[in-house]
Amino acid sequence: MKKILVTGGAGYIGSHTVVQLIQNGYNPIVVDDFRNSQPAVIQNLEKITNQSIPFYAIDICDKTALNNVLKNTEIEGIIHFAAYKAVGESVEKPLMYYHNNVEGLINVLDWALNNNVKHFIFSSSCTVYGEPQGIKEVSEETASGIANSPYGQTKVIGEQILNDVKHSGVDLNILALRYFNPIGAHASGLIGELPVGKPNNLLPFITQTAAGLHKELTVFGNDYPTSDGTCVRDYIHVVDLAEAHVKGIDFLAQNQPKSVEFINVGTGKGTSVLEMIQTFEETTGKKLNWKFGPRREGDVVEIYANADKSREKLGWIAQYSIKDAINDAWNWEKNIRNI
Ligand code: UD1
Repeated sequence: MKKILVTGGAGYIGSHTVVQLIQNGYNPIVVDDFRNSQPAVIQNLEKITNQSIPFYAIDICDKTALNNVLKNTEIEGIIHFAAYKAVGESVEKPLMYYHNNVEGLINVLDWALNNNVKHFIFSSSCTVYGEPQGIKEVSEETASGIANSPYGQTKVIGEQILNDVKHSGVDLNILALRYFNPIGAHASGLIGELPVGKPNNLLPFITQTAAGLHKELTVFGNDYPTSDGTCVRDYIHVVDLAEAHVKGIDFLAQNQPKSVEFINVGTGKGTSVLEMIQTFEETTGKKLNWKFGPRREGDVVEIYANADKSREKLGWIAQYSIKDAINDAWNWEKNIRNI
């Protein structure tokens, strides 16, 4: 079976991808130092998949450790998730972000090139589009490269590094997936999002508030030029997103693209913050405490994916609805809080 190295494989998107890889006949090997995840995730992955999952608790920035643990392992492809992702924190600690996200990518790429790896998938983000000018639906052709935070800038730089490496003529197939807003959890209720501290992202804050961890949700801004005054995003079920990575590895193997492929992974549909709250209440039957507050600095007003390229190139489209994702996220929250 083909071995796929998954960096950050105990994290939110990484763990769901490990499940999809196994279900599609791949053999994932996890590298994760658990700084933003829990070792128990590995046990839960083993429960879901009913097989043991090799993992190494090392930092991807530690070149020697990476070399030591993977010595003599033939890796077909790498899916590189391991990175920081909190926009606000990146503004406060930019060097920590550049160090981990950029240096980490360079190390992993270096290892890939020295060890005959064939395929490489990079976790990019719709944040590379910054605040799109005059459009809401962004395609891969939409101008990118001016992200509005150091976190976003690490994704812009990551994409540039990949372009330059590919351009140098290396024998590595490279795909950068630009994620929109992943939400939800695995239907088993065994894995999901585990924010450290107070969540920054919308749905974890909603489910934690409904679970009684916070008094109320603050909706950041109600005077945006959108249908109801709140920001609009393209929320995608994390299992759909995970599946896009499997399709991505298959695509690289079949097509061996000559340059880096950049592909949006979103549903193609925008949903406002108020619509999310309303759908949460309808889906779960729980009333949510919330209030309007000021705008959050750096928020993009309205953005969603043009999802044509993922359909055409990867044969992938989102299968799950926002209701499915909310239902799974709420189940997960109830499981971890014993509600
Ligand atoms: C941003 C980035 C995304 C990145 C992610 C990492 C963009 C367009 N998206 O997501 O690429 O991967 O951060 O965390 O740059 N909201 C509230 N109250 C809350 C929390 C959020 O009203 O307590 C609103 C926000 O204002 C926003 C929406 O909910 O309109 C979604 O916010 P969030 O979940 O943080 O995701 P993004 O900011 O879109």
